[in-house]
Amino acid sequence: MKIGILTSGGDCPGINATIRGVCKTAINHYGMEVYGIHSGFRGLLDNDITPLTDKDLTGLLSMGGTILGTSREKPFKKRSSSSQNKPALILKNIQEMQLDCIVCIGGNGTQKTAAKLAQLGVNIVSIPKTIDNDVWGTDTSFGFDTAVTIATEAIDRLHSTASSHQRVIVIEVMGHKAGWIALHSGMAGGGDIILIPELEYNIRNIGNTIIERLKRGKTYSIVVVAEGIKTADGKKAAEYIAQEIEYETGFETRETVLGYIQRGGAPTAFDRNLATRMGGYATEMIATGQFGRMVALQGEKIGSIPLEEVAGKLKLVNEDHDLIVQGKRMGICFG
Ligand code: F6P
Repeated sequence: MKIGILTSGGDCPGINATIRGVCKTAINHYGMEVYGIHSGFRGLLDNDITPLTDKDLTGLLSMGGTILGTSREKPFKKRSSSSQNKPALILKNIQEMQLDCIVCIGGNGTQKTAAKLAQLGVNIVSIPKTIDNDVWGTDTSFGFDTAVTIATEAIDRLHSTASSHQRVIVIEVMGHKAGWIALHSGMAGGGDIILIPELEYNIRNIGNTIIERLKRGKTYSIVVVAEGIKTADGKKAAEYIAQEIEYETGFETRETVLGYIQRGGAPTAFDRNLATRMGGYATEMIATGQFGRMVALQGEKIGSIPLEEVAGKLKLVNEDHDLIVQGKRMGICFG
């Protein structure tokens, strides 16, 4: 069998470990031929592929980013200016390159494109990857644990400076429309107020929480906000919340945006192993002809789920999540 592998959408720690998991299993265990497709779906449009050998897979386990490159190319998105029928071109190129199957590693957008290609008859196996943890149908994705670890360390570091200056510090973490990183790093980092897009917030309530904390002798506060919370005038989350807190309480407030640091560098041991397991499982699915499905972590086990069930859905935080319930019981404010 001749398989192609691509990575699409924003990068995250653990992608290279997955490529290694897929390709080493394919080459060494199943005797398949593997081709790396460059820059996501753009590589399928440009016939931009190179063979991958076992030698190319050295050193990938701990390496951040993706050796294949990535793009946010969405071949099914209609653009009035483009005369090119991208899906048809992709089908033609896959046939010309004689690829029997395509492994798509990506987030929500990638799963949607993968589902559409599968509907057109392409043999697809997809693997979820995102720091945001918002891909529907899998308990978690690799990249998330690393992002939470990085954000938690950043929050830990804010405590001493906030305490020394008796300030409020607002830290903004990533997550697109989901609050997973903010919730997990906020709780692990001892945030006093945690704001996520899934829950409404009231700035007066936040201000009162900070004032009440001061009355109890807590001279500083850490506020963890997800980038996707609603703000007035479309302002950036941390900037807006910091400005409103200062206005509401009169306390000196500073903001920090953690940004792409959350996405770069080496994956945690958990993410390396999840990536390796998911990669190996994807290759097993190819060998047994299970196409049109996404690999998923289901409890302790790796399994898979039909792509049409995943496409177009988002996995968001529920308000009865046990971290929220427990946080509230300890006096943490969620808005
Ligand atoms: O989906 C991953 C993510 O890092 C989000 O958390 C963030 O909103 C977005 O990507 C940033 O995307 P870009 O790489 O296009 O700036």
